[in-house]
Amino acid sequence: MSVVVPPGEVVALLGNNGAGKSTTLRTISGLHRASAGQIYLEGGRISHLAPREIVQLGISHVPEGRLIFPELTVLDNLKMGAYVRKGLPKEGLDYVLETFPVLGQILHRRGGALSGGQQQMLAIARGLVAQPKVLLLDEPSLGLAPIVVHAIAGVLEQLRTTGLSILLVEQNAELALRLANWGYVLANGRVTVSGAAASLVADDEVRRSYLGI
Ligand SMILES: Nc1ncnc2c1ncn2[C@@H]1O[C@H](COP(=O)(O)OP(=O)(O)OP(=O)(O)O)[C@@H](O)[C@H]1O
Ligand SMILES: [Mg+2]
Repeated sequence: MSVVVPPGEVVALLGNNGAGKSTTLRTISGLHRASAGQIYLEGGRISHLAPREIVQLGISHVPEGRLIFPELTVLDNLKMGAYVRKGLPKEGLDYVLETFPVLGQILHRRGGALSGGQQQMLAIARGLVAQPKVLLLDEPSLGLAPIVVHAIAGVLEQLRTTGLSILLVEQNAELALRLANWGYVLANGRVTVSGAAASLVADDEVRRSYLGI
């Protein structure tokens, strides 16, 4: 079964550890080659393209574990998010500093010196500076304190009103299904359940396996 992310919508990808969620995002980004199937962006096939070309077409990937550059400043980390575009676009920088005002106050601090929450915000901001059409977000709440998760959820809430399409991988299924329009459950690299977020929240199996109810 295909995974579809409609324009301007948030789609949640759920599944247990090892289900293949990160691999799915990495395959969309061109970091893995699909052994079968195809990937399309706005009707054009992208499965054969290099990661750099995929970024240029407007797909940004915020990886699991954040993977910011600890030795680089916040500003230089943001520049890395725009390197395929020959420099940081001013409107992209303005946009992320408006979305994450805290980053504006620490632009010259080293990435490695930031808190976990600030690093996650930086990772998302780095994904957004190139002003993508699609954002692939891998476990943005992982390992963060509840108050920080709340702040990140607020940002995602705001992003979903901007027309950006988001494919959101989250262990926190409750959070993911609150933000998403639609959700898929993966097991062993395959979609086992899909539906409107509201119907998944009511699905017995999803409730037992992913919502702990
Ligand atoms: N479609 C697939 N076919 C074969 N192997 C796969 C597939 N998807 C993932 N794998 C393998 O399964 C393992 C776990 O995958 P992955 O890291 O994507 O899981 P995950 O759902 O992101 O798990 P976690 O919740 O721990 O982050 C990896 O070794 C990966 O190579
Ligand atoms: Mg993963």
